[in-house]
Amino acid sequence: MTTILTYYGHAALGLNISGTNILVDPFLSENPAATADPAELPADFILVSHGHGDHVGDTVTIAKRTGATIITNFEMANWFSAQGAENVHPQHLGGGFAHPFGYLKLTLALHGSGLPDGSYGGNPCGFLLDAEGKKTYLACDTGLFGDMALIGAEGVDLAAVPIGDNFTMGPKDALLAVAMIKPRMVVPIHYNTWDLITQDAHEWKRAVENRVDTTVFPLSPGESLSIE
Ligand code: NI
Ligand code: MN
Repeated sequence: MTTILTYYGHAALGLNISGTNILVDPFLSENPAATADPAELPADFILVSHGHGDHVGDTVTIAKRTGATIITNFEMANWFSAQGAENVHPQHLGGGFAHPFGYLKLTLALHGSGLPDGSYGGNPCGFLLDAEGKKTYLACDTGLFGDMALIGAEGVDLAAVPIGDNFTMGPKDALLAVAMIKPRMVVPIHYNTWDLITQDAHEWKRAVENRVDTTVFPLSPGESLSIE
């Protein structure tokens, strides 16, 4: 009974929950920071937070190869079906479902969600997962919002928050987010992929750990972390 989070660079993550492989926003083949091969990664489920290309990424090809079920909002689930994905599970903001790997709820995110071909992608989301007695909150692409405190009130063990600035929260707002979410562990994402979102994750680690009782794990692409 272990949950392992793997960082694939940018905002691409993997969760292995007692052997079930879940990919999140698998942007790999066009991702300058990625080291994983989308033709080889195992996937049982793929979570997609919003329609932007740096999140949809290789979702369609991985889903076709593996038969993985794509979990995303209703609008994007329909779009992925139209792209030829066989297994999709639509949810929407505020709605949770007991999947075989755990209870997954779609949370608010302040961002956009236009799909790569210009299709409407509904509202962007984050994910709150309750699996094996641990809560994981993936903020995904978002600006800071006060309702993160409500998510934190659920008792978050591990969070992943963007720190890149420009397109999402930057380091200062991400610190305020961590102060509201109060996770035991946090992984910074969505930075250093391109010049526009260059950040020093180790400086952010120092700033966060000076201010709140959370341990920051700046992971290199390919690195993993066990949720204890
Ligand atoms: Ni985005
Ligand atoms: Mn993005």
